[in-house]
Amino acid sequence: MQNMAGQGYPKAELKRAGQLGSLLLRGGRVIDPARRIDEIADVLVVDGRLMDIQPDFPLGMDWLEHVQQVDMNGKWIVPAMLDMHVHLREPGEEYKETIASGTRAAVAGGYAGVACMPNTMPVNDNAAVTQFILERAREEGACHVFPVAAISHGQRGENLTEFGELRSSGAVAVSDDGRPVMNSLLMRRALEYARIFDLLVISHAEELSLSQGGLMNEGPVSTLLGLRGIPNAAEEVMVARDILLAELTRGRLHIAHVSTGGSIRLIREAKKRGILVTAETAPHYFTLTDSELMSFNTVFKVNPPLRSEKDRDYIREGLADGTIDAIATDHAPHSLLEKDTEFEYAANGMIGLESALPLILSLVRDGTLSASEAVAKVTCNPARILGVPLGSLQPGKPVSLTVIDPDVTYTLDCETFQSKSRNCPFHGREVTGRVELTLVDGKLVYTRS
Ligand code: DOR
Repeated sequence: MQNMAGQGYPKAELKRAGQLGSLLLRGGRVIDPARRIDEIADVLVVDGRLMDIQPDFPLGMDWLEHVQQVDMNGKWIVPAMLDMHVHLREPGEEYKETIASGTRAAVAGGYAGVACMPNTMPVNDNAAVTQFILERAREEGACHVFPVAAISHGQRGENLTEFGELRSSGAVAVSDDGRPVMNSLLMRRALEYARIFDLLVISHAEELSLSQGGLMNEGPVSTLLGLRGIPNAAEEVMVARDILLAELTRGRLHIAHVSTGGSIRLIREAKKRGILVTAETAPHYFTLTDSELMSFNTVFKVNPPLRSEKDRDYIREGLADGTIDAIATDHAPHSLLEKDTEFEYAANGMIGLESALPLILSLVRDGTLSASEAVAKVTCNPARILGVPLGSLQPGKPVSLTVIDPDVTYTLDCETFQSKSRNCPFHGREVTGRVELTLVDGKLVYTRS
C-alpha cells in the first residue's frame, strides 16, 4: 500500500505528520461504536500507532513538542470506514476503474478498506485472480482490498469454485454478485462448503424469471413510462430461499444491496429466529426512488432498481432497527460507452465511494440513526461480518481513522472525483458532511485539497 498523502487540510502540518507519523488530534468528537466511545477527546498517534484517546492531553509535556498538534474543533474522528461491496473492474475493464483509482476514490470517501466483487474479466473464480488483485493492491492501492471470490466458475451458476484455495489465497467471502445463483442445490452446497472454511456467502438476490427484461422498478412509474418493470418479488423470492437454505445448512449468509420492504420483513424475522443472516443496503436505496427515472437519465439505472417511496421508508426502518447491519456503496463504475445510450441498452450501476458519507450523515440529521449507529454501519459491523481487522480504534495498532466535518455544506461534483468513472446520481446535489482526512495503517493517504 502506498502513502498517497495529498495536499490540503490542514495542509503543512498534517503532511509532515503523515511522514513522521506522530500526531495529536485535539478536541475531536471521537466515535468508535465497537469500543462504545462517543466523546470529545484528543487522539494521539505516535509513529503511526494509536497511543491513546484522552479527554484532554495536558499541555507543556516535553515530548509533545515533537508531535504535530491539530485542532479538530469538534470534527468527528472515527475508525476509517470499510465498504463491503464495490466493483474495482480490474482485471479486464481498466477503462472504467482500476485498483489504483478505485482505492484512491475509497480513501477520498473515508474508507480504509473495500471488498471487491468478482465480476471482473476474467472472473475472480480462482487463486491466480485473487492473488493478482491482492498483489496490485499491495503495489498500487491506497487502502486495503479484500477480494470476494466467485461462488461458481465464470459465475455461470453450474459448478462451485475451490473455496479452500480461494480462502487461503486471501478471499474473505464468496458471491456471484452481478448475477444470482439460480440453482437452489448449488446455493445449498455453497453454504455448506463455505462453512468448512468459515467463508461468508453473499447473495445477489434476484429471481431472473421475474426480473429478466426489466429496466426499472415495477409500479406506477414504470407503467407511466412504458418501461418493463422488475417486481419487488424478484428480490424477495430469493431472499426467502436463501434464508431457508441458511437455516438448513447453518451457513453464514449475507444479503447484498437490499432494496425492498419485503426483504426487510424476511430478514428481520429470520434474525429473530436465530438464522445466521446479515444484510446491507446502499445510499441510493435510502435516498432515491423510482420517480428519478422520469428523466430517463441512465445514471439512475441500477440493479436492483430504485424502488418506491414506501420501500425507501422500509429501508430506513430496517436501518434504524438493526435489520440492516451495514451500509455499502455497490460502487459500480461504468464509462460513457455503457451509460450514454438508449435506456434499454444502458448498463446497470452507479458509483458511490465519494458520495456515500454525506448521504449516510443525512440519516443522523433526520433522526433515523444516532451518530454511533451510523458509524457502526460503515465500520465495526461490516468488519465483523467480513472478519477483517478494521473498524475500531485499537490502542497500540497502526491506526486507520477518518476525520469528518459533519457540518460543512457543499455541492457534490463528480468531476473532482478520484474514480475514473462519472456515473454518479448525486452529482450537483447539495449535501452536508465531508471527509477531511483518512489515515490507513498510520499513513496519511488522503487530505482534502
Ligand atoms: O447495478 C449493478 N451493477 N448491480 C449489480 O449487481 C452489478 C453492478 C455492476 O457490476 O455494474
